[in-house]
This record gives sequence, C-alpha cells and structure tokens, in this order.
Amino acid sequence: MRIPKPQVEIVATGRYLPERVLTNFDLEQMVDTTDEWIRERTGIRERRIAEPEMLTAEMGKRAACQAMERAGIHPGEVDVLIVATATPDRWLPATACDMQALLGATNAAAFDVQAACTGFLYALVVAEGYLVAGRGEIALVVSTEKMSAITDWSDRSTCVLFGDGAGAAVLRRANDFRGILSSYLRSDGRLGDLLYRPAGGTKIPLNHHVLDEKEHLLRMEGREVFKAAVRSMAEAADIALQRAGLRAGDVDLLIPHQANVRIIEATAKYAGIPSEKVYVNVDRYGNMSSATLPIALDEALERGRIRMGSNVLLVGFGAGFTWGSMVLRW
Ligand code: ACO
Repeated sequence: MRIPKPQVEIVATGRYLPERVLTNFDLEQMVDTTDEWIRERTGIRERRIAEPEMLTAEMGKRAACQAMERAGIHPGEVDVLIVATATPDRWLPATACDMQALLGATNAAAFDVQAACTGFLYALVVAEGYLVAGRGEIALVVSTEKMSAITDWSDRSTCVLFGDGAGAAVLRRANDFRGILSSYLRSDGRLGDLLYRPAGGTKIPLNHHVLDEKEHLLRMEGREVFKAAVRSMAEAADIALQRAGLRAGDVDLLIPHQANVRIIEATAKYAGIPSEKVYVNVDRYGNMSSATLPIALDEALERGRIRMGSNVLLVGFGAGFTWGSMVLRW
C-alpha cells in the first residue's frame, strides 16, 4: 500500500505537571486500599494533584507556552486554539476561550472538544482538517485535565486511578515527509453510562441530594471499561496502521492512553508491538484523561524515544465510549 503524504505536522510539544505528588502510601491513609493492590491492578505508583486554586485553563496555558516557545511562535500567530478537556473550569464560556485570554492568542478561533480521554486525538483531527481546509496556518491543540476536581476521594475503586496535568502541541501545514500519516476516530454512545458523571448538567442539575450522594463526581464500571478499552484500542491501532500503509513491525513507538498498565500491555500484545516499543508513564502520573497522550508524546521526544523519521502510533480510549488512533511520521 502507498504511504500517504502528510499535510499537517506537529512542530513542537509541551507539558505541565503539578508539583504535588500523591503516592499510593498517601492513599492508604485516605481509603481502604494498599500500595500493593494499586500497583498490581493498575501499575500506578503515584500521581500529580493540582492545588485547589490551580485552574484547568492555567495548566493548559503553561503546557501551551512551552510548546509555542519550542515551535518559535508567539500567541498572536495561532489561528485556531482547540482545547480537549473533560474538566472545564466552568460550563460557559469554553475553557479554550479562558485560555486564549491567558495566552493573549487574540487572533485565534478558540473552542473546546469533549471526547473524554480520547480528546487529544479528536482535537488533533479537527485541527488537521481546519488547516488542510485552508482556514489557517497554525493550530494549537491543548489537553488539560484537573481530574482531582471530579474524583470521589472516598471511592477507592476510582480515586486511585486519576491524576492532573496538561499537554500541548503546535501544528502547521506540512511540506515534507513528516506529519500526520493517518487517523481513525470512533465512538459508541450506547455505552455512556459505564463511565460518567451522573449529575451536575442540565439533565440532573446540581442540588443538595446530588451533592450529598456525590452524583456530580465520576463513576465507572471498571471491568467493562477495561475490556472495551483493550478491544477498542487494538482495533484502532490496526486501522490507523492500515490507513498509513504500515505494519506493526514498522512502528518505532506506540504511545497508548495511560489508564492502566494492564490495558497498555494487552493493547500492545493484540497490536503485535513489543514492550520495548511502548511508552509507559502511568506509573508516575496515573490517568490524566485527555492529557495523557500529549504528555507522553512530549516526554518521549525529550527522552530521545522519538527521532527524525520515527513512526509513532498514538491510540486512545475514553468515556462515551470514544476511541481512536493516529500515525505520525516524525
Ligand atoms: N484497593 C483495594 N481493593 C479495591 C480497590 C482499591 N483501590 N478498588 C476496588 N477494590 C476491590 C473491589 O471492591 C473488589 O472487591 P470484592 O472482590 O471484595 O468485591 C476487588 O477489589 C476487585 O475489584 P474489581 O473492580 O473487579 O478489580 P479489577 O481487577 O477489575 O480492577 C480496576 C479494578 C483497576 C478499576 C480495573 O477494572 C480497571 O483498570 N479498569 C479500567 C479503568 C480505567 O482505565 N478507566 C478509565 C479508562 S477511560 C478513561 O481514561 C476515562
């Protein structure tokens, strides 16, 4: 199969992680759990937690500033700012608009994308289409998540899983061999109630009962999510590779959504990619929803795991359910 010619490339990335570290041993003091249980079932050792006053938009701004500095652009050059987040600072306006003001990206169109943990991939695909359609030259895609704000800290089955952080990518039209080779996005809204926040929106607005029962916080059927995540990410990996005209053996680095090390290992196995070609940082950060992929991408670049000409496969899965993948030639 012919390898498609990229039309858009990621020029630079950035990340922001809060300083505060919450270890499994800290969690042992908060709920009925153990470091051993968390490590064996999830692979997570610690996660970062933002201070209460730290905003989702501010975390995103810090990641974006690093990405823009590395790309050598200033905020006024951004034509479109797309923010993926499941933890907006407020319902209106979009977190992207708040971030736009913080950045001074005054020439950009700014809006949010909500695709839960798959949000970064959805936002990249939208940004790619925006640029290919000739609507602008430079796109800024930011995934920023304050998962600690929607976590029920008394529920041991979920509170051990999540962390806070932000990642960003600057995109522009490609003019050589590097860039986005292929992508694949899917969702299945019939499975929405397996991973969701029951109340707090217009369906069941906030009231005292909701707050008492913590129905505004995240709930999850862990086992069902686990099975669907593996199945969906393996399918997504396969399809993006087919569309890129590549095989599993051509992949230099697989960066999967970082939710659970067992999900990551199973996905890599189904996709036929050996563990040494899989990027893992869930042990240090937990699941940061949509921010996991750009943070892992940024770290992988910094650590030399991605070089000029590398084929990088991103795969994600999240609430909705949503899932997707992308092949990048670096
Ligand atoms: N500490 C100790 N015991 C616990 C804990 C905990 N933190 N949490 C649950 N348990 C107990 C349960 O109560 C249960 O006890 P029981 O057998 O007496 O009833 C036992 O451990 C087993 O519980 P399971 O839920 O069956 O455990 P499982 O092996 O499925 O692991 C887990 C749970 C880690 C949540 C797993 O299902 C998982 O990782 N699922 C996917 C979660 C995920 O990745 N979600 C996000 C993906 S999408 C996105 O990123 C938004």
